[in-house]
Amino acid sequence: MEITREKAFDLLKQYVNSKSLIKHCLAVEASMRGYAKKFGQDVETWGACGLLHDIDFEKYPEQHPLKGIEILKENGYPEDFIMAVKGHADKTNTPRETNMAKTLYAVDELSSFVIACVLVRPNKFEGLKVKSVKKKLKDKAFAKAVDREQIKQSAQELGVDLTEHIQTVIDSLVQREEELQKEGLSLIE
Ligand SMILES: [Fe+2]
Ligand SMILES: [Fe+2]
Repeated sequence: MEITREKAFDLLKQYVNSKSLIKHCLAVEASMRGYAKKFGQDVETWGACGLLHDIDFEKYPEQHPLKGIEILKENGYPEDFIMAVKGHADKTNTPRETNMAKTLYAVDELSSFVIACVLVRPNKFEGLKVKSVKKKLKDKAFAKAVDREQIKQSAQELGVDLTEHIQTVIDSLVQREEELQKEGLSLIE
């Protein structure tokens, strides 16, 4: 089957109502699209993987991501896609063997963290620098739920320098926000 953004988004909306979870999925999608471009991979496939990685989280939190994998299989998503989704959750103990899997793992927490940084800035995305994201990473009281160790370790696993990684995620989110606004969507509203 052909993977398209439209089909992926329709599927997501069948299972997720929470606005904040949809926004998390959109942010991870944005970063996956950015990395797909950077690595010369298929933007639609990588984007859909980001968009759908938490599809079961609202309805089946206990079974996450295994229920999601079932849903994705039923809908014809390919094996490497499914293995990437499986691998983003440490509890499945799944080795992340592809760049898609490693990238999903590396952008999951960080995408939400960067959005959290954007939300507290008066100018939002405008002029956001890696330096200020790093400063917030050191501030333990800020976005407490985000696992800083996971961010560092997953970047290492992907083989990217943390500064470059944060820059790629910022650039991906900024570009995607512009595109989404044309569709009446936003990563931050
Ligand atoms: Fe997840
Ligand atoms: Fe996630």
